[in-house]
Amino acid sequence: MGAHELKAIAESIVHDHKGILAADESTSTIGKRFDAIQVESTEESRRAYRNLLFTTPGFEEFVGGVILYDETIRQSADDGTPFPALLASKGVVPGIKVDIGAHPLAGHPGEVVTFGLDGLPERCAEYFTLGARFAKWRAVITIGSGIPTDGCLRANAHALARYAAICQEAGLVPIVEPEVLMDADNSIEVCYEVTTRMLTAQYEALDEQRVALEGTLLKPNMVISGKQCADQAPAARVAELTLDCFHRVVPAIVPGIVFLSGGQSEVHATENLDAINRLDGNPWPLSFSYGRALQASALEAWRGDSANVEAAQATFLHRARMNTAAAAGEWSAQLEQAVTA
Ligand code: 13P
Repeated sequence: MGAHELKAIAESIVHDHKGILAADESTSTIGKRFDAIQVESTEESRRAYRNLLFTTPGFEEFVGGVILYDETIRQSADDGTPFPALLASKGVVPGIKVDIGAHPLAGHPGEVVTFGLDGLPERCAEYFTLGARFAKWRAVITIGSGIPTDGCLRANAHALARYAAICQEAGLVPIVEPEVLMDADNSIEVCYEVTTRMLTAQYEALDEQRVALEGTLLKPNMVISGKQCADQAPAARVAELTLDCFHRVVPAIVPGIVFLSGGQSEVHATENLDAINRLDGNPWPLSFSYGRALQASALEAWRGDSANVEAAQATFLHRARMNTAAAAGEWSAQLEQAVTA
C-alpha cells in the first residue's frame, strides 16, 4: 500500500471533525474499569460491553475509527458479525493496539520504554487480514525530579518510529502516541517544555526511519498543568501553549492530530479540545482519540445490566457528539446542557 492510500485512510478517520474511540483497553485495564462498576470481567462481559459501544445507533456520525485490543478484534457482535466487519459496514475504520506495554528502561530509574517490536511485522500482517487499517503504539513519559532524561525520550521515539515504519509496510496507518503523563504536580510550562522535547525527538526519529508522515496520525497529550499542581491553567492557556508547541515541531504534512484524554474529566477534555479549535491557522485537523473521556459515564450508566444498554448508548452518543462539536470549535456549556435535557 502506497503513502497516498495510507493518507486517504488517515484523512477519512478525522474527516468532518470526527474522532477516534479508544476501546483498546488491555484485559487488565478493562478489568480495573469493570471493578469500579462492580462488573466481573470475563471474555463475555468484555464482549457484551464492546458490543454495546459498537452497535450504538448513529455513533458513526461522530467517530471515524475505533481502536481494538487483540481479544476484541477476534470477537463478534450479538448477531455474529465480527466486530471489524460491523465497524467497517458503518464506515468506521477498525484499528488495533499493537504494543505490549511499558516496561522499566534499563539504567533509567523511574522511566519506562514500550515493548512490542519483536514479531511485529507478522502480527501486523495478521491484523490486516482481520480487517485493521490503522494501529496504535503508546509511549509513556513521566515528569519528575530529573526526569524525563534524553535517554528515555530517544529510546521511546526510536521504538515508535520503528513501529510506524513496520505498520506502513503492512498497510496500516500508525498512530504515533508519545504520551507525557498529566499526573504529577508540574506546572503547564514544564509540560510544554517536556512535550516540545519529546515531539522534537519523535519527528527526528520518524524521519530517520523513513516514515511517510502523510500516512500517520499523531496522538499527543495536551499541554496542561499536572493533576497535582495547585495552579490549574484555564482552557484558553492550554490551547495557546498546546498549539505553540505543535506549530514549532509537528510538520504541517501530518494529516491529523487526535488527542488522548489522559485522565481529564469528560467535560474538561471536551472543553479543552474546543478551546484548541477556537484558535485559527492550524494546518491539521485537531480531534480526539479518547478512552476514558468517551466511556466513563457510559460505563456508569451500564453497570453490566442489559436493561441499561439503551441508556448507556445514549450517554456514549452524547459524549461523542460533544467532542465532534469541540473538534469544530462549536461546543459550549449550553450545548452540553441543551442536548442532555
Ligand atoms: P485516554 O483517553 O483514557 O487517555 O486513553 C486514550 C488512549 O488510548 C491511551 O493510549
